[in-house]
Amino acid sequence: MTEQRGNWTSSMGFVLAATGSAIGLGNLWKFPFITWENNGGAFVLVYLICIAAVGLPIMMAEVLIGRKSQKSAVGALKEAVGPAWGLVGGWGVVCGFILLSYYTVIAGWSLFYFTKTLGWTATGFPADLQTGELFGAQVSNAGLQVMLSLGFTIATISVVYFGVQKGIERIARIFLPILFAILLLLLVSALGMSGSGEALAFIFRPDFGRLEPSGLLEALGHSFFTLSLGMGAMITFGSYMDRNQSIAKASALIVCLDTLIALVATVIMFSVIFSVPGMAEQVGSSTVGMLFISLPALFYSEVPFGALLGPLFYVLVALAALTSTVSLLEVVTSFLIDERGITRHKATVMSGGAIFVFTIMAALSFADVPILSTMHLFGEGDTAKIGWFSTADHFVSNWMLPTGGFAITMAAGWFMTREATEGELVDGTEPRWFHYGAWRFFIRFVAPIAVGAIIVSVMFFNVDFS
Ligand code: PFF
Repeated sequence: MTEQRGNWTSSMGFVLAATGSAIGLGNLWKFPFITWENNGGAFVLVYLICIAAVGLPIMMAEVLIGRKSQKSAVGALKEAVGPAWGLVGGWGVVCGFILLSYYTVIAGWSLFYFTKTLGWTATGFPADLQTGELFGAQVSNAGLQVMLSLGFTIATISVVYFGVQKGIERIARIFLPILFAILLLLLVSALGMSGSGEALAFIFRPDFGRLEPSGLLEALGHSFFTLSLGMGAMITFGSYMDRNQSIAKASALIVCLDTLIALVATVIMFSVIFSVPGMAEQVGSSTVGMLFISLPALFYSEVPFGALLGPLFYVLVALAALTSTVSLLEVVTSFLIDERGITRHKATVMSGGAIFVFTIMAALSFADVPILSTMHLFGEGDTAKIGWFSTADHFVSNWMLPTGGFAITMAAGWFMTREATEGELVDGTEPRWFHYGAWRFFIRFVAPIAVGAIIVSVMFFNVDFS
């Protein structure tokens, strides 16, 4: 039986769903951390350039490939470029599968901190609590980790099960405004803190002397992750898009919103950190440190209205993560629907269930479970990647997204005909040189060179984006 293919209810439907996919843990968890690690200002500026010069053109390429063929990643690339390109789509499906398997684990942590902060708001923050120890205890609690990620997986499956309009678009319509409202409240509170001036200067005043060449590559690598590029998610979402909508305008809006949210989240976190004497030195050298170790306690000691904003902040993380996990599951599910003729309901449960097997491995990576927590495929000594969680993150961020992205730039820039891409991008409302001529230059020359540099640096210079 073939079901009717889904589509968004309106042009805003596509923008909201794709923005929901883009805004996620990458904005709230990874971007503030890498900005910290790379000393702010100059890194942020370089990141903005990467987003505009590489991220936006690739986003437009993915959306146009999807819309042109009205098929999910594998079918779309086969039809738009050629039969062999189905392999690139398949690579994206595998990438979605692996990325989702560990993304839900971090998303599950936000549920844990939501319930914890609710408790602290009700009964007070325990004076002797060491948040580092609390974090260590929760990640090594195998049963808890499996339950949290199972909860998140079930939520994700429930959304995708209801399809493009009633599931994915509906939650984006409801959750994104809530997410923006919570961020605004947090921003107002953060800007009132004593460290906000220092935070703004750190983030927006470039000092190129403090930017290492590796920061440039990190900015580039992150632009893929944060915009959900390189694995067919935007191809899939583009396949449900209306022919009359401008791809250039929609993509530009998505990219701007994603960037805005990343910057706002960073301003909030750094305002808090710079307000506490000595805190800047204590912020751990790990990605999780800021979000799950430093911040929880600071809500109760430093942040104005923190007892209210603490639980809201973790709701925000959970909502942002959910609108991303549904897009990841949709990549795998829509492949089964379009290419294997399986019904949506069956395909969603099958793909969600299969991914959860790997989620269990990711969830147990920090618990003391032999094999899972010691398994290691990449690196040696201090840089070894231990456990499925790190192994998968390393593989996706360093290899899968950049190679997938490179293939997509090649497909759209060099293998598709000019007529084919022009037909999708030119709608007569904007000057042609602006969105077609400029796009074609960036997708043919700038993006492949930039993405090629990522791949070369991973292959030959041991650069690590995970
Ligand atoms: N863009 C998401 C984030 O910033 O957290 C991560 C992501 C979601 C990547 C969906 C890829 C994807 F298909």
